[in-house]
Amino acid sequence: MRIVEDRIEFQRPRILVTGGAGYIGSHTVVELWNAGYEPVIADNFSNSQRWIIDRIKTIIGRPVTVHEVDCCDYDALAGIVQRKGAFLGVIHFAAFKSVNGSIAEPQKYMHNNMRSLENVIRLVDEFHIPDLVFSSSCTVYGEPDQVPVTEETPWKAATSPYGLTKQLGEDLIRDRMPTGAIILRYFNPIGAHASGLIGEVPDGPPANLVPYITQTAIGLREKLTVFGTDYSTPDGSCIRDFIHVVDLARAHVAALARLASERETDVFNVGTGAGNSVLEAVETFMRVNQVGLPVVLADRRPGDIERIYAETTKAERVLRWKATHTLADAMRDAWRWETGLRALEKSA
Ligand code: UD1
Repeated sequence: MRIVEDRIEFQRPRILVTGGAGYIGSHTVVELWNAGYEPVIADNFSNSQRWIIDRIKTIIGRPVTVHEVDCCDYDALAGIVQRKGAFLGVIHFAAFKSVNGSIAEPQKYMHNNMRSLENVIRLVDEFHIPDLVFSSSCTVYGEPDQVPVTEETPWKAATSPYGLTKQLGEDLIRDRMPTGAIILRYFNPIGAHASGLIGEVPDGPPANLVPYITQTAIGLREKLTVFGTDYSTPDGSCIRDFIHVVDLARAHVAALARLASERETDVFNVGTGAGNSVLEAVETFMRVNQVGLPVVLADRRPGDIERIYAETTKAERVLRWKATHTLADAMRDAWRWETGLRALEKSA
């Protein structure tokens, strides 16, 4: 607490959010504020939009501090902490995330994702920042022998340089931070904030399913291609654990709460615990939004995993976190976001 003029002001614990203007980062900034933290964004806007910051401000009803820095630049990162003073934690989202992009430019991915993580680890060490939360991915499991996957499920060889950066990133954290870090393995984040103000902004034609669905539904893409209908699954299409991005954002708040009581380095799956097929996802989108979609069934996409979904009991027990949104909620929110985005483009 500090006394400012004649007011007594509660000082919120400060959290540095790298990649805070991005898809998962922006939703987490909102949830951090709602939970009583002061999020401070570090983003170089290489794959995010400056106007998302204004949208965050509208949702939380106050300004948010933003530093335009590249996490590969250690001095720039350290400058934030020197200027702002004590931080309770860092949530490290900033990374390149395209699977195909990583296959095309493996060195760029390896350099960016590993260097920025090394810098973040150095930052928390040098400035005695107690907590770190790291964005990992279910991609570390590769093609699993059994589903659901638990945190103990053995890793398979990474299927892309992007996946390799997540495996190496986890190893680096466990090696360098025996205490104070939580690794969250995200399954398939989808949806958008219920306000329709923030969501995913794909750079060019989307590679991921849900933005491709919404862009097709709005007429930006000619048709949705479903990759593979001959998998050994009930309807022949792949199975994923689609998690609403707001649930995912809240898992980061739960991770900070956990670190406040137990500073052990640990890892958690962050999914819903249920698998849905690609065709079910498409059907749910059409049903809840009453929107038709031109769909073409096609061959498998090289590198796709047949089925993966999370065992989430560890997160429920230890983090006291559980996804609460349904697939239908996520599809409704994704569509609200997409329609708002195009309305914005038209008025610009
Ligand atoms: C991939 C990554 C994951 C990453 C995620 C988001 C792997 C194995 N997975 O997930 O780590 O977090 O991207 O960047 O590296 N699909 C279609 N038509 C489309 C697009 C997708 O049928 O137009 C299908 C895919 O074939 C797949 C499913 O939808 O079966 C999900 O694909 P996608 O959204 O790209 O995510 P993943 O590949 O599961």
